[in-house]
Amino acid sequence: MGEVFAGRYELLDQVASGGMGTIWRVLDRADGGLKAAKILSQSDAGSLLRFVREQSVRIDHTHVVTPLSWAGVDDRVLFTMPLVRGGSVADLLKEHGPLPPRWVALLTDQLLQALEAVHAAGIVHRDVKPGNLLLEPTGTGAPHLRLTDFGIAAPVDQPRMTRGTQAIGTPGYMPPEQWRGADPDPSADLYAVGRVALEMLLGRRPVDDEPVPEPLGASTTDRLLGLVRDATRPDPADRPASATAMRARLADLVVLPPTPDERVVTVPDRFPTAAPPPPPYRPLAPTAPHPASATLAFRPPPPVPAALPSAVPGLVLVLVGLLGLALATWLLLG
Ligand SMILES: Nc1ncnc2c1ncn2[C@@H]1O[C@H](COP(=O)(O)OP(=O)(O)OP(=O)(O)O)[C@@H](O)[C@H]1O
Ligand SMILES: [Mg+2]
Repeated sequence: MGEVFAGRYELLDQVASGGMGTIWRVLDRADGGLKAAKILSQSDAGSLLRFVREQSVRIDHTHVVTPLSWAGVDDRVLFTMPLVRGGSVADLLKEHGPLPPRWVALLTDQLLQALEAVHAAGIVHRDVKPGNLLLEPTGTGAPHLRLTDFGIAAPVDQPRMTRGTQAIGTPGYMPPEQWRGADPDPSADLYAVGRVALEMLLGRRPVDDEPVPEPLGASTTDRLLGLVRDATRPDPADRPASATAMRARLADLVVLPPTPDERVVTVPDRFPTAAPPPPPYRPLAPTAPHPASATLAFRPPPPVPAALPSAVPGLVLVLVGLLGLALATWLLLG
């Protein structure tokens, strides 16, 4: 049995280790449910502040991972969240390379739906990247994305608590103004969406400042490249006005049926439920017959000697003969 944290969360296995802590699969003894838990690796004031903020971002939306509960023991803290079983978009890209354009449109649209809810709550995520986009295990069906990791999210209109030496994003996905320390603004998340969409089309992380390929026609890929170019403009004022405005440009792409030549993409269940244990050993019930007596009970009766049937008429003949002899003797002598 694994360590039981705070008398409630049984640590089953480590799922990943990130910049802020480690992610575990846990059994919550309070309700018997399997969950994910992020255990903070450090307990300095800055990390604890991030932890408190992250676990408090509770946006109830189908494309957002919402923390469920938290616990602390001595100087260790964890918070739990639903276990999302299909891995991340980073895993998917590692396994499949470039994704079909229809998938890129679907995943980008779902990410934008998540950001609509996040921005409506007055929060900027600031760390949109493939490793923070989890997937439900939908197999070969349509994907279901869930945005996670609100570790450096910031309220739009409140003083930031992560200024200074702390990281404020991930290189490659941060817009130029975020590097310069600009105040949190939803347009920074839209820039990151553009970078992620480009990565999904290329099947690899674009190098910094890599120019976005020129859209040449009106195919799904071209339409996506046009959106990527607009979302990643250096000046935030040149980007689409909102997540909703970006979604409008995807509206007719997300309803497209798969083309016959579309590659099959699978999002597997990375935590398949273990096979049920074999039933416990049970000795034979006391009333069951002992194997030896059972054999005896069903032993066939001993074979009747083959000679017996033929001996019976012979014996009768001998008796009849003896009787006849006795009668003849009695008549002759008598
Ligand atoms: N709820 C969850 N269910 C399943 N796996 C998860 C869950 N949350 C996180 N993970 C896994 O753990 C990885 C890291 O999670 P997360 O980004 O929240 O941690 P982090 O410490 O902030 O990492 P980083 O600094 O790399 O962003 C994810 O990419 C994913 O593989
Ligand atoms: Mg992360």
